[in-house]
Amino acid sequence: MRKMVQRAANYICKRKIDRLLPGVMDDLQDYRKKSGTTGTQFITLWMSIQTIQKHRPNWILESGTGSSTLVLAALVKKLRKEHPDYQGKIVSMESVPEWFDVATKNLPEKYRDVVEIVLGPRQKFEMAMYRGYIHSNIPKHDYSFVLIDGPAFTDEAGVAFCADIFHAMDISSAPVMHGVSDGRASTVMVIQHLYGVRAARYWHGLYAARFSLPRIDFRNPDFITAKDFATSFLGRLDFVKFRR
Ligand SMILES: C[S@@+](CC[C@H](N)C(=O)[O-])C[C@H]1O[C@@H](n2cnc3c(N)ncnc32)[C@H](O)[C@@H]1O
Repeated sequence: MRKMVQRAANYICKRKIDRLLPGVMDDLQDYRKKSGTTGTQFITLWMSIQTIQKHRPNWILESGTGSSTLVLAALVKKLRKEHPDYQGKIVSMESVPEWFDVATKNLPEKYRDVVEIVLGPRQKFEMAMYRGYIHSNIPKHDYSFVLIDGPAFTDEAGVAFCADIFHAMDISSAPVMHGVSDGRASTVMVIQHLYGVRAARYWHGLYAARFSLPRIDFRNPDFITAKDFATSFLGRLDFVKFRR
């Protein structure tokens, strides 16, 4: 059932993308052949398109370069043409040198003016009671949209999470961080813990979640007090500091 929902939703989203960005499917096919990329599912790409169309972020951070980079670039170019005051740019982070070389070599010429691909080997990121991985070397800009599709998030201690969205809050001054996560349930779970379930709903059938998160200061040492951890009648603890 889950697979059927996912297949149908991907089919619908692919058609919507094809209609909105004519020619991008040919670019994707070509890029896939040359790069062997794992790709990003069309559901995630369509959620990203909708969010970017709505908020028109000037700085887009992509975590995990690949075919998704082409779709983001085609959209930014379209928006730039339609809105002359819009100057959107994409910083696309890749953690693995081999894939960085492949992506840099195969990014179509027509997208190079709106995309910068940056090599950033993964780096551990600790925030409060959570352990994640970010890309190192992320250039400092005012990002307000993040597509989470990397870096690898497991290690000798088990499953961590992709934390670029929280690192982006450190380096950007945007008050709200919009974004989409492709799969990566552990990332969405951290978002849900901090902001509540409504902030990023996730179903395996879609294998993606979108979010719009106000910036938080998760290093604030004050959140050890009992009032930041609510307890239910049945003894369930919830971390509620950032849900107010
Ligand atoms: C899910 S992939 C990112 C895919 C990318 N967003 C796209 O749309 O093509 C996550 C990471 O896997 C690595 N990767 C890319 N292509 C790969 C491949 N063909 N096989 C194994 N790993 C790959 C890269 O380090 C990449 O950042």
